[in-house]
Amino acid sequence: MSKHIVDPTTTGAWAELKSLREDLSPDLRGWFATDPQRTEKLSFTAADLHVDLSKNLITDDVLAQLLKLADEVGLEDRRTAMFSGEHINVTEDRAVLHTALRRPKDAAEKLTVDGQDVDADVHEVLAKVYDFADSVRSGEWTGVTGKKIETVVNIGIGGSDLGPVMVYEALKPYAQQGLQARFISNIDPTDAAETVADLDPETTLFIVASKTFGTLETLTNARVCRAWLLDGLRSNGALEGKEDNEAVAAHFVAVSTALDKVEAFGIDPKNAFGFWNWVGGRYSVDSAIGTVLAIVLGPDSFEEFLAGFHAMDEHFRTTKLAQNVPALMGLLNVWNVNFLGAHTHAVLPYDQYLHRFPAYLQQLTMESNGKGVTAEGKQVSYQTGEVFWGEPGTNGQHAFYQLIHQGTRIIPADFIAFANPVHPTRDGEQDVHELFLANFLAQTKALAFGKTADEVRAEGTAENIVPARVFTGNRPTTSIMASKLTPSVLGQLIALYEHITFVQGVVWGIDSFDQWGVELGKQLALQLADAVAGDREVLAQQDSSTQSLIGYYLEHRAQ
Ligand code: F6P
Repeated sequence: MSKHIVDPTTTGAWAELKSLREDLSPDLRGWFATDPQRTEKLSFTAADLHVDLSKNLITDDVLAQLLKLADEVGLEDRRTAMFSGEHINVTEDRAVLHTALRRPKDAAEKLTVDGQDVDADVHEVLAKVYDFADSVRSGEWTGVTGKKIETVVNIGIGGSDLGPVMVYEALKPYAQQGLQARFISNIDPTDAAETVADLDPETTLFIVASKTFGTLETLTNARVCRAWLLDGLRSNGALEGKEDNEAVAAHFVAVSTALDKVEAFGIDPKNAFGFWNWVGGRYSVDSAIGTVLAIVLGPDSFEEFLAGFHAMDEHFRTTKLAQNVPALMGLLNVWNVNFLGAHTHAVLPYDQYLHRFPAYLQQLTMESNGKGVTAEGKQVSYQTGEVFWGEPGTNGQHAFYQLIHQGTRIIPADFIAFANPVHPTRDGEQDVHELFLANFLAQTKALAFGKTADEVRAEGTAENIVPARVFTGNRPTTSIMASKLTPSVLGQLIALYEHITFVQGVVWGIDSFDQWGVELGKQLALQLADAVAGDREVLAQQDSSTQSLIGYYLEHRAQ
């Protein structure tokens, strides 16, 4: 850690923000009316993204103090520390270099970290991934019976699943015809069973994706799938005269930082793609963890995806904070959480292809910033990580938007939309995408400006139901638009949220790159597995509630 962590509550800016909060009476209608420049002042461009922050509950003074806060906690120094490979992940003593995964091959300045030529390493693995992807796409790589691969099943969990699933769903129009991806993550046996049920083992390739290659769910699912593959091949006679390991070699590859464990599992290390401990799981979709994407979407799309990340990295690294979109959005989140009392943050993509984006962001943001001690181990005295959630529009409008519009809680929301649809459609005279966009615009407008009691009355509403029909407005939203959801734009969006998360973590003084909070449950699950299997001694050591639940299970399980 290069510098001492600054407690944000001890800064002058924090005190100023507190007093600005006390004096603030949110009035977006008034603020827009009295400041014709508001939209222009608060609209920004980051790579290909257009970002409008004007419907947030901020004034010029608040923004100025948020920027001062960034200065007082040393955001720019921390940013430099991250990009240059300092060990800012202090509890694991690691560099945090996901930004190196998308640096161009011919970067003018080489990046050497801990004696390692990072650019050379990254591009060596990428070349291997692309070669492999090309061989599967062309049919040169076949299953053990010589058939072309039609389905690639990624077995992984957390960062080894959520990113690949989300990106595959988002970029489906770019997938090669005749080649599909599927994903198995949950240790619930239903997940693997349902995913492979209609697949042909002869045309299925499995990618076991695990940074550590020690994750219970992934290794269990990998063994289950290996058994499914061998049973399937055996039962249709495809294995006659062949060894099991020949079939496994043709149908299983791996992605991991632990290539020794890959070999121990029975996968030929030459069919394994590596990455490094300076890539956090939730920051790894642009590493070899994206192999499934490079295969199904193709190396060209994957390259474009990486270039999108890099464009946003460059924006974040080089733009002054007052114009720096990830910095501004991260600081706004701090304002919303620590001064306006927001507990959650909605992300609402108006694009069906982004339907897994909120789920992806949940790991990115909440595993990163769900911390109660600082990077120096001190208990924090302020709120940190808010809950991220969301659903694609317009589905959410008919479900939970009621609470965002009229509930008692403040729920900042990011709305994401694209000018060009993937499926231009008309309903008679109506362009359906335009109708969709009208909904996106209507929601942010209604949330910001609301509807007064007088406006409700003017519609002839009976007096007794006027209060129920009033919209207070002043509900903060950010609008993010781009021309089209391309691989590059998706990379930009992901990098935007990575850096927003980083900015929040810096202000809060926490280590956004470890995840110790997931460990206890993993340890206990292993212990409890024995009790669930009927070990009376282990059962007797449990608390009474756990004993009782296991007792219920043992009593009710069909023999
Ligand atoms: O348990 C949490 C976690 O460590 C995540 O951070 C990670 O993305 C996931 O598990 C999967 O880990 P691995 O890629 O090592 O299997």
